[in-house]
Amino acid sequence: MSENREHFSSRLGFILAAAGSAVGIGNLVGFPVSATKNGGGAFLLVYALFVAFICLPVMMAEMAMGRKAQKDPLGSYKILGNNDTKWKLAGFLAVFTPFMIAVFYMVITVWIFGYLTQTALGNLDSLANPGHFGLFINSYTVFAYMAAVVLVVNLILLGGVKQGIEKAAKFLMPALFVMLIVLVGYVLTLDNAMAGVKYYIIPDFSKMNASVLNGALAQAFFSLSLGMGILMTYASYISKKDDIVGSAKMVAITDSLVAFVAGLMVLPAIFSFDPNTDPAALSDSSVSMIFVYLPKILLALQHDIGYFGASAVAFLFFLLVFFAAITSLVSIVEVPTATLSDRKGISRKKALGILTLATGVLTVLCTMSFGMVDSLTSFTGYGGQSKSFFDVVYDVFYDTILPFNGLMVCLFVMYRWKKANLSKELSIGSPNYAGSFMEKYVNFSLSTFIPIILATIFINTVATKFFGLKLFGF
Ligand code: TRP
Repeated sequence: MSENREHFSSRLGFILAAAGSAVGIGNLVGFPVSATKNGGGAFLLVYALFVAFICLPVMMAEMAMGRKAQKDPLGSYKILGNNDTKWKLAGFLAVFTPFMIAVFYMVITVWIFGYLTQTALGNLDSLANPGHFGLFINSYTVFAYMAAVVLVVNLILLGGVKQGIEKAAKFLMPALFVMLIVLVGYVLTLDNAMAGVKYYIIPDFSKMNASVLNGALAQAFFSLSLGMGILMTYASYISKKDDIVGSAKMVAITDSLVAFVAGLMVLPAIFSFDPNTDPAALSDSSVSMIFVYLPKILLALQHDIGYFGASAVAFLFFLLVFFAAITSLVSIVEVPTATLSDRKGISRKKALGILTLATGVLTVLCTMSFGMVDSLTSFTGYGGQSKSFFDVVYDVFYDTILPFNGLMVCLFVMYRWKKANLSKELSIGSPNYAGSFMEKYVNFSLSTFIPIILATIFINTVATKFFGLKLFGF
C-alpha cells in the first residue's frame, strides 16, 4: 500500500508545507498583540518555553504516528491501535475537528481575500470606515469571494502532495518571508516605531497569571497545528529515511520566528499611528484588529507616502496574511481529503468534490450567522451569552477539542502504541535520538505532565465556556 502513497519530494518540501500550515493569521496579528498586552518579553519567553517543552514532544508524537502508519489520522489510530474501537473514536475526532476548523478558517480567509481585492482596487479609504466591516460581512459579495477562495484551495489540493501542496508551499512560504521582511523594514522607519518595539520586547513579569499562561499555551498549541491531525497526515507523506526530530524542530522554530518577527511589523505600525496607545486597550480579537483597526492605520500612512503608497503597503499586508491563511487552509482540508481517499478508496478529485460540498454548506451557514439570518445569528446560548453558529463552531472545535485531541495523542502514543515504538520510529532518520536526553524527556513528559496539563485545560475550558464556572481560577 505505502509504496503507492504519494510522498513529498524532499525534507525541505515537508518542512515548508508543515510550517505553511502552522504559520497563519494568528501568527501575524494575534500573537504580537497578545504578547504586548500580556507582559511583552515575559510572554515571549513563556511562549518559547511552552513551544520547546510542551508542544514539541506532542508534535513529534503526531508526526511519528503518521509516518509509521502511512495513513490518514483515522487509519493511523486504527492500524497502530489494532482496530481498538475506543481509539478509532479518537481517530474520528482527529478528522472531524479539522473538518470543522476548516469551516471557521475559511470564513476568515474569505474576508481577507475580500480586503485584499478591495485594496487592489484602490478602496483602502472605504475599508478604513468604522462601519465598513459590519456591512461587508453581511453583503452578498462575500459569496463571490468565497467561490474564489474555494477554487484556489481546490486547485492546490487537486495537484496532490508533490505538485499541489509542496509546490504551493515552496512558492508561498518564501514569498511570505520576503513580504514580511519588507514590511518590517518599512515600518521600523516610521516615527515612534521604537515605542511599539519596547512594549513588545521589554518584559513585564507582573502581568503573568494563570489565565495568561493558559492563553499562551493555547496559542502555541493552535499555532503549531497540533491536535488537528495535520502533522499526522503530512508526516504520512514523508519517507522512512527522513529525520522527524530535526524537521519538527525546524517547523516549531519557523512558526515561532514568523510570529515574533510579525510583532516587529504590527506594534511599530500601531505606535507610530498613535504613540499614546494603551496596549491594554488593544482588541484581543485578531478579527477586529485586522479588519477594523489596521485598515485605519494603513490609511494613515498616506500622510507619509500618499494614497497610492499607503494602498501598496496595505496590499502587501493583506497578501501576506492571505498567503499565510491559504497554506493553513490547504493543510486542514487535506486531512479529511486524505481520510476519504484512504478509507473509501476514492480519487482525490471525488473526495475534494464531496468535501467542498460539505464544508461549503457549513461555511455558508457560518457566513450568514453575522446578521443575515436571525436563527443562525442567535443560534444558541451558553455561559450566559448568546452565540451565533460561527461562535459555536469556533468555541467547540478550536477552543475546546484541540487540547482534547492533543491529550488523546499523548495517551495513545504512550500507553497504547507504547514508548518503545515511538522511540524506534523517531530514531529512524535521526540515529542520535536513541539514548539521548531528548528521548528521555519526550517519553517522560508525554507520559506524565503534558497529558495532565492538556486535560486540565480541556476541563477548565468546558467549565468556563459552557457552564460559566471558574474551576481553577483562570
Ligand atoms: N497558526 C495558524 C494561525 O495562526 C493556526 C493554524 C495552524 C491553523 N494550523 C492551522 C489554522 C490549520 C487553520 C488551519 O492562524
